[in-house]
Amino acid sequence: MDVKELFDLTGKVAVVTGGAGGIGEVYAEALCDVGACVVIADVNIDAAQHTADTLEGKGFQAVAVHLDVTSADSAAQMASATTEAFGGIDILINNAAVMTNLPPYGLSNMPVPDWDRVLNVNLRGPLLCTQAVVESMTERGGGRIVNGLSAGGFMPGGIYGVSKYALHGLTCNLAAELGGRGINVNGIAPGLVDNESGYVSLPKDSPFREILGAQIPGKTSGPPADLIGTMLLLCSPAGEWINGQTISVDGGWIMRL
Ligand SMILES: NC(=O)c1ccc[n+]([C@@H]2O[C@H](COP(=O)([O-])OP(=O)(O)OC[C@H]3O[C@@H](n4cnc5c(N)ncnc54)[C@H](O)[C@@H]3O)[C@@H](O)[C@H]2O)c1
Repeated sequence: MDVKELFDLTGKVAVVTGGAGGIGEVYAEALCDVGACVVIADVNIDAAQHTADTLEGKGFQAVAVHLDVTSADSAAQMASATTEAFGGIDILINNAAVMTNLPPYGLSNMPVPDWDRVLNVNLRGPLLCTQAVVESMTERGGGRIVNGLSAGGFMPGGIYGVSKYALHGLTCNLAAELGGRGINVNGIAPGLVDNESGYVSLPKDSPFREILGAQIPGKTSGPPADLIGTMLLLCSPAGEWINGQTISVDGGWIMRL
């Protein structure tokens, strides 16, 4: 294979859940840059439409679709709207999550509805979206699914950490189940991301940043753009042999031996 083709996604169709802003929006533009058609699937349809319009304005092929990842019906509608727009689905980025509006409780005193709210988006969401796209990927001879994890999943990170660690388990199980159909399922676990949500979960001027930085061997934090290379690796021919892995992109904060 020509090395230039390793990251080429010309003609591929990608769905980015939670693609209306933040990391998802950056992922969506990167996928467009390497040739994919992109569906911005988000519960915030106005923001999703704005993002899709911006991409279209840059000459890319993008559409916005309303998606609530907690609903199987909504996930099925996302899949059929994508197929209607672009003919099928090759790539699913399970990026949507509850990250900033977390319940103000520890696990030992958390009301069940709060537990359900976070797990429904962060864990059930990726499962339902995967279930919705598997048929189309299978028909097209395979696909790629990338789950958005977090360094918080590999430490005592409360309900958010539990949801992301469970998503790592889901990633491995789906990879085992779908690998035979040519569908690779992997995860990306970013560390401290320099964006709006990252600053809500740990304020820019928090003294805790310096304490954390001292424990991270490499770069302490990075912008969403620092995640693009790993995401494209997992979606492109370059990553054909990678399956069932969660790749940490965090300066070496998390090292799983
Ligand atoms: N920002 C960080 O510091 C950081 C660090 C590690 C991991 N992550 C992970 O990266 C991903 C993206 O983070 P971000 O910073 O862009 O967050 P964000 O809050 O900016 O974006 C999340 C998006 O998901 C959408 N969303 C929320 N609930 C939804 C639902 N039920 N159905 C569909 N869409 C829904 C929101 O509308 C929003 O557009 C998340 O999975 C997050 O856990 C973020």
